[in-house]
Amino acid sequence: MGQLDGKIALVTAGGGGIGQATAWLLAERGASVIAADIDAAGLDETVRHSPAPDRLSTIVADATTLQGAQSAVAAAKAKFGGLSILVNVVGGSKPGKTVVDLTPEEWDGWVRLNLTSAFLMCKAALPVMAASGGGSIVNISSGASECLTTSPPWSPSCPATTEHS
Ligand SMILES: NC(=O)c1ccc[n+]([C@@H]2O[C@H](COP(=O)([O-])OP(=O)(O)OC[C@H]3O[C@@H](n4cnc5c(N)ncnc54)[C@H](O)[C@@H]3O)[C@@H](O)[C@H]2O)c1
Repeated sequence: MGQLDGKIALVTAGGGGIGQATAWLLAERGASVIAADIDAAGLDETVRHSPAPDRLSTIVADATTLQGAQSAVAAAKAKFGGLSILVNVVGGSKPGKTVVDLTPEEWDGWVRLNLTSAFLMCKAALPVMAASGGGSIVNISSGASECLTTSPPWSPSCPATTEHS
């Protein structure tokens, strides 16, 4: 019997990297999993190499839009009947720019990818999760938010943020 038998999980960025590995692990441990990503080919690979393909479904959805978040949650409900685990993996950074170099548009894009996506996913998921009897939300972040690296500049402790001040 699996540790997560009967659980229904939704994993963003499930078409590659950490999200893909998370989707595989949750399915291996017995959960029914929806992997959501903007990369359809990556999602195909997630299913193809899954240790439990019968418990793994996918949806192409953009976690940085409310519509994408809602469609991912709706897919979990339609396919498996509810939601008990949400893993927000979408995020990332591109090193190399300081606050001085970064444009406001780029800043907004990174905040949307790293922060707003988790908000939108939680907003869409919480009512369904509550109706399913409760659950767990795991937000994946980066160690870059804590350590003294030169990027990303939206890290509060980052020297690149303050070196021009
Ligand atoms: N790679 C690392 O060493 C590392 C370390 C610590 C934390 N993290 C964090 O883990 C998370 C994932 O990192 P990764 O290295 O696996 O990333 P990755 O770049 O390998 O994978 C990102 C996946 O997210 C998908 N994606 C991108 N934008 C999306 C969107 N708007 N909606 C849905 N899917 C989208 C991509 O298609 C891709 O499949 C990030 O938040 C990152 O900050 C990564």
